[in-house]
Amino acid sequence: LKYNEHHRPQLHFSPAAKWMNDPNGMVYFQGTYHLFYQHFPGGTTWGPMHWGHATSKDLVHWQQKPIALYPDSLGYIFSGSAVADVNNTSGFGKKGQVPLVAIFTHHDPKGEKEGKENFQNQSIAYSVDNGNTWTKYAGNPVVKNPGIRDFRDPKVMWFAAGKKWIMTLATKDRITFYSSPDLKNWKKESEFGEQRGAHGGVWECPDLFPLALNGKTYWVLLVSINPGGPNGGSATQYFIGQFDGHTFKSDQQQTRWIDYGPDNYAGITWSNTGSRKIFLGWMSNWNYANEVPTDTWRNSATVPRDLGLVNIKGQILLTSHPSPELNKLAGKPVAIASSEIAKTGSLKVTNHIKLPGQYTLEFKLDKIDSYSIEMFNDQGEKLILGYNKAEDRYFIDRTHAGLSGFNPGFAGIAYAPRLTAASSGDLKLVVDASSVELFADQGLTVMTSLFFPAKPYQQLIIKVNKETVVKRLVLAPMKSIW
Ligand code: FRU
Repeated sequence: LKYNEHHRPQLHFSPAAKWMNDPNGMVYFQGTYHLFYQHFPGGTTWGPMHWGHATSKDLVHWQQKPIALYPDSLGYIFSGSAVADVNNTSGFGKKGQVPLVAIFTHHDPKGEKEGKENFQNQSIAYSVDNGNTWTKYAGNPVVKNPGIRDFRDPKVMWFAAGKKWIMTLATKDRITFYSSPDLKNWKKESEFGEQRGAHGGVWECPDLFPLALNGKTYWVLLVSINPGGPNGGSATQYFIGQFDGHTFKSDQQQTRWIDYGPDNYAGITWSNTGSRKIFLGWMSNWNYANEVPTDTWRNSATVPRDLGLVNIKGQILLTSHPSPELNKLAGKPVAIASSEIAKTGSLKVTNHIKLPGQYTLEFKLDKIDSYSIEMFNDQGEKLILGYNKAEDRYFIDRTHAGLSGFNPGFAGIAYAPRLTAASSGDLKLVVDASSVELFADQGLTVMTSLFFPAKPYQQLIIKVNKETVVKRLVLAPMKSIW
């Protein structure tokens, strides 16, 4: 396997072949990061769901593994999570083994066809060989559907203060929390969200975890929704609040998005990483995920991102940063003197770095004003992104970025608000063969966008408004992870 097809991501995990959607069951155990994902091995469009599997020692280089979970008499294997049951509460571990336990939705396509309401139920499976092989629990399902059509995507965490497991489940237009002493017996605790946040579509793939800021613990609730995202289709919102082991409370007024771009969905965090929270999303959008122009595989994950909190004028907001492990892919960085830009307001970066190829670009501005970054080829295809001062928002314009005829909604401009009024600014881009991830203002505004140039972009130009003072501009070519 060469992973060198046209448009194949070089910095991102994608399945060796065939279809992928949501990342699932991410758990860190004994030096290995496990990544499972919604997978259809029979084609490059969505189909009967399996859990594909890949592992990494460093969060960056991935090794494709055999399929972990196959559909069975209870249905397809939909999204879910995995935990290291360190205290062996489940009893699945023998002779001191720590079992890995996967918690997932069984989706029964027959029940769905027959028009039943209870065709999604929560089940578990365990592994006592470091995730290599999995055994489904004989007592499945462990959370039975009470008659809610959309009842799925369990994310489980250990709530140490109450010595119990908490399951965060997407239940149509709200989140339902359950608790369990042993991962097998679950009791409903509470609901959240019927009247809160965005409701343009069904709620899916939630996650609940604590993060600390200045010695205080806050609880973050991620909720993916489809459709209803800020730039159309699917996207992931978040709530900051408090969780006491029973209920989640938030006084957040505004809807917030972990990523405003069109192509980050169904993301959750790794289990068993201590206080560090590492997020990974599916780098696509249900509006066109089945149609994007790749041949042997379809869709990939975002880069892993470290999540954090920041206080902006009394509001606690979530930040995302590309996980520092990515730096190990960086080739010799090229620093460009700000005087080079100041002269004309425009800089042909490709005088300094060889394209095509994947790279990161980072800059700091002393005084933020409008700027744009343009990537283009000799076919007239161009991706433009940047910041518009008058509108005080970031944008990614893929209107003429490449192939787009596969879906009428693909070409267009995505926008994201700037969430700070600071006079200085910063930007980090992670640019791959068919994607860009934009992190602005220390990870406060994030946008992820796909693009499919017929021919790789060969040129890169930065244009800044004359008022802008570029303090530091660094480019780094990135080695392929494959
Ligand atoms: C989200 C989702 C989940 C579901 C899975 C099915 O993208 O719709 O809610 O479990 O995909 O593949």
